[in-house]
Amino acid sequence: MNSKDKVLFVDDDSGIRLAFSRSLEREGFSVDVAANATAALTLAEHNAYGVVVLDYRMPDTTGLELQDRLKVVLPDSTYILVSGSCDLDVALSALNEHGISYVIPKPWVHEELVSKLNRALELSWERTAARRLEATMMEMNRDPVGGETATMVMSRGTFARVLLRVLNLREPATGKHCEHVAQYARLIGVELNLSGDALRDVELAARLHDIGKLSVPSAVLAKTTPLSVSEWQYVYAHPQVGADIIGDVTGMDAIREMVLQHHERWDGRGYPNGLKGAAISLGAQILAVADAVDAMLSDRPFVKGLPLADVRQRIEDGIGGQFAPAVAEAFLALRLEASCDASGLRKERPTEIEVQERRLDPAA
Ligand SMILES: [Fe+2]
Repeated sequence: MNSKDKVLFVDDDSGIRLAFSRSLEREGFSVDVAANATAALTLAEHNAYGVVVLDYRMPDTTGLELQDRLKVVLPDSTYILVSGSCDLDVALSALNEHGISYVIPKPWVHEELVSKLNRALELSWERTAARRLEATMMEMNRDPVGGETATMVMSRGTFARVLLRVLNLREPATGKHCEHVAQYARLIGVELNLSGDALRDVELAARLHDIGKLSVPSAVLAKTTPLSVSEWQYVYAHPQVGADIIGDVTGMDAIREMVLQHHERWDGRGYPNGLKGAAISLGAQILAVADAVDAMLSDRPFVKGLPLADVRQRIEDGIGGQFAPAVAEAFLALRLEASCDASGLRKERPTEIEVQERRLDPAA
């Protein structure tokens, strides 16, 4: 647990402070407590807190007033208000005017508090990651001579590297998966006689294909049990989110399209738009095969990845269903074991989402 996962709890009642810290430390949280505004501000100046939980009524201040002051020192933290007299006005003011993310009535239900804290930590992490991304892009756009910004000089490769740096920071396993998919996509592309820009586009799109998973909560990415319907909504959204992240960056139209379409299926049963056959770009058809190959070959908790022969069989079984016939046949034509060794591919454990995707896709 790093320093951003720390929780600051501010309450004037020593018994409640003790109960809060003991019960949450048992859940693995690192908790600091403060009895008043002065102590809270002093701690905030010397520590990074992912979440700050504030009592509403305290002798020297209210939780809302204190949040306004703490926000200056801890802009990326997520704030939770705990209130014994949880009237509607306080709750609405907290949520609408003070940037409080959650209001929890006191006495709280332990499970609800833990659940809110976990989500609050994710929100905090996402704000920090977005700020880092913005800072990195600003730095890369800075003219080394004059110090002026020159937004047009950043290449799409640099843009992609920035995105991948953020993805690797958030979810290293997904970053490795994208790297593997890029290598398979390149092999398939060469087999299909792609070259030059077309081949480079496919490779770059493969590296970025799951960038939209930045929007999937960590708890969902890490889940080892089947996802709920609401959790699946995040997964279904990730191709569109990925396309939105790439946005209108110059020279990346084809990449954006491939990212958007990488979960479409040849038979029209894919997502997000249910495109069918040749309506799916060739690059996205390649990504679909490369993505499935890496997911099937990869080990997952307690289950080994499939042997190459079984993967080849499943790709063959998916021809005309999940996979574009010409692309699947190009993969089957590869002398894959030799190529994998030559390119240094090593199988890593897939993320749970990849495992879930495999469950969703009967052909995969
Ligand atoms: Fe994906």
